[in-house]
Amino acid sequence: MFNADDLKKGFLSDLENVINENNLSDLWKKYFSKQGSIQGLMSGIRNVAKEDKKAYGQFVNDVKTWAQNKYEEKKSEIEKAALKTRYENETIDVTVPSNAQEVGCLHPLTTVKYEMINVFAGMGFEIFEGPEIEDDDHNFTRLNVLKDHPSRDMQDTFWLTDELLLRTHTSPGQIRVMDKEKPPIKVLVPGKVFRSDSDATHSPMFSQLEGLVVDKHITLCDLQGMLDEFVRNMFSDSAKTRLRPSYFPFTEPSVEVDVSCFRCGGKGCSLCKGTGWIEVLGGGVVNKKVLENCGIDSTQYSGLAFGIGIERITMLKYGINHMGKMFENDIEFLKQFKA
Ligand code: DAH
Repeated sequence: MFNADDLKKGFLSDLENVINENNLSDLWKKYFSKQGSIQGLMSGIRNVAKEDKKAYGQFVNDVKTWAQNKYEEKKSEIEKAALKTRYENETIDVTVPSNAQEVGCLHPLTTVKYEMINVFAGMGFEIFEGPEIEDDDHNFTRLNVLKDHPSRDMQDTFWLTDELLLRTHTSPGQIRVMDKEKPPIKVLVPGKVFRSDSDATHSPMFSQLEGLVVDKHITLCDLQGMLDEFVRNMFSDSAKTRLRPSYFPFTEPSVEVDVSCFRCGGKGCSLCKGTGWIEVLGGGVVNKKVLENCGIDSTQYSGLAFGIGIERITMLKYGINHMGKMFENDIEFLKQFKA
């Protein structure tokens, strides 16, 4: 009785041309919106005789359902195709090498400090850390550095007040340990120290590793034995030490310790300046006055002590020629120390 063949034909041919989501929404507007053809068909109800209106309404609804079904089919087809294209385009090639996150590494000074501590820890040393702000008493006086000693000079020491200063060495750690503990004592004091000094091989801040052993019958031979073990572990199996007489107020006798050149094996090269030996640390037998200053009976006990510059060992080990390199945080420089 009613006829929408033209609309259906038009709809089918329009549907045929739909190939993407834009076309689909155009089609929706053209047929299903308020101004759309199907709504137009419904408006035709005005011209239908009263008794036929119900049938006409049913007829338009059927057309609409038919068109909606077709539309939904097409819509899911388009969506599937779009998803397929997306899957294809967004495929992940798991074989492509990734931009791996760079992993950091320990600073060479930290690595060397740990290595040094490890060697001595193997000989039974414990760690003690003292304050970086020290007083005159611990940094100088009780270490037997007398009032007129040149190292107390304003030029060398960063004084904070008449009494307080930035420690110029880790040796005050010896006093702090001996104040707290009675022999036998075997400690390491690692830490930063400060001196008013700056050039290729000196920096106002650097680090030292102090060692102190106090017990009965401790001699210079014990010091040499421990240091031999230390240089063999740090430099090479065949490294040897050489002790030269020196002077420090807190040790008597005092020695300057050289290691046989680990680059040339002692023949003489640029690293050892042709001598076959490289100076690495200072040490000696603890001055009796220092033991007494800490209430330790020097007729019963003796001690050995040494102080090693951690930067110096690091520079020697890695052939670094400027102290500043170690404090600049230059990533390119530091990257070289990745394991
Ligand atoms: N404190 C000295 C310095 O900073 C190094 C040193 C020398 C430490 C001899 C010692 C020692 O314990 O016995 O130059």
